[in-house]
Amino acid sequence: MGLVLSALHFGLPLLYYTWALKTWYPRDWGVSKNAHLPKITVVVPTYNEARRIWQKLENLYSQKYPRNLVDILLVDSASVDGTVEIAERWSSQRRDAKLTIIKERHRLGKISALNNALTKATGDIVVITDADATWAEDALLKTATYFADTTVGAVTCIKKPAGDLHHVESHYRKFYNAVRVAESKAFATPIFHGELAAFRRDILERIGGFPPDVGADDSYAAVRIASMGYRAIAADDIVCIEEVPHGSAYHTWRIRRAQHLIQSFSKGLRHLRAMDKRFKPIFLANAYLHLANPWLLAAGAAALSAATICGSAAAAALIVAGTLLALYRPYRTWAVMQIYLMAASVRNIWDRQLIWKKTK
Ligand code: GDD
Ligand code: MN
Repeated sequence: MGLVLSALHFGLPLLYYTWALKTWYPRDWGVSKNAHLPKITVVVPTYNEARRIWQKLENLYSQKYPRNLVDILLVDSASVDGTVEIAERWSSQRRDAKLTIIKERHRLGKISALNNALTKATGDIVVITDADATWAEDALLKTATYFADTTVGAVTCIKKPAGDLHHVESHYRKFYNAVRVAESKAFATPIFHGELAAFRRDILERIGGFPPDVGADDSYAAVRIASMGYRAIAADDIVCIEEVPHGSAYHTWRIRRAQHLIQSFSKGLRHLRAMDKRFKPIFLANAYLHLANPWLLAAGAAALSAATICGSAAAAALIVAGTLLALYRPYRTWAVMQIYLMAASVRNIWDRQLIWKKTK
């Protein structure tokens, strides 16, 4: 019993990932790219980002994209650390940048702020980006080229962790990026990134913006858009650097993000019936991997422990083998991920983390 559960837990994802990387990853994108340059609204939601906002705006300013085609909407939810003042000072020094600052009087969370900004966005493409994300200088240009294809509804970046590579994080990222790209080449990926999440504004408006009960605003919008039959893609030539928290903040951060993704997959299940056929298998595989599969590992371990207590030497040997495997990094990374996902499901029961404390 324990062995069967564990075999399923490891076997099913292995099957999916192998399939994705062998069959989908080598494919061509199947999108017609060209140098068409749409008007873009970049939305930066901020809450207490004084430490990073100057650099963030500079990063946007240095993008290789015609300045007259980009406007920046900074939507701040009553920061108390002087974020807005810094942004205003930046604006007075960079007069040729089109920056609009929306000052919310109360903090109602990132999603509410995004919906607020959406009512003021005028670009054909809306790009949402976290204040702690840094873009490669051609990120916006590359993003735009994918939208030249009218079948593409949403585009996201791949992520590189910043600086001193956190071990679990860097290892997990490489593999994770490749899977996102593979799914994107097949049709669409259900996992988007707040570092750079770009959408056609008209489609975003058609789905009614971002729902207030899903923390992963970016991923959920991608799920909706792909369900409607548009490509939602993570492109490997669009690179973002994300700041990764250190120490215990790392775990809190991971769990919150897992909570948000779980919310997105759970809610996405409601669209299953009308979901585009090309997207359905990709969505279902990922929904399974995030919502159900981690529990098979826990159940398998529990069954093996019970068998050990009842005197099964084989079960005991399997537990020892499983524990020793933790010395092998990819396995350890995987196991830790499963724990985050389970912790996240449980925490979602009482606290959905839709408004969260800033991680240091
Ligand atoms: N306006 C506004 N109001 N912005 C906010 C608020 C708020 O209440 N809370 C957070 N933000 C801003 C932050 O200032 C930052 O620019 C961005 O939203 C992301 O916040 P982080 O605190 O850096 O979040 P994260 O890195 O843990 O999570 C990101 O990724 C998740 C999963 O990919 C966010 O984009 C999450 O929304 C997302 O679920
Ligand atoms: Mn962040």
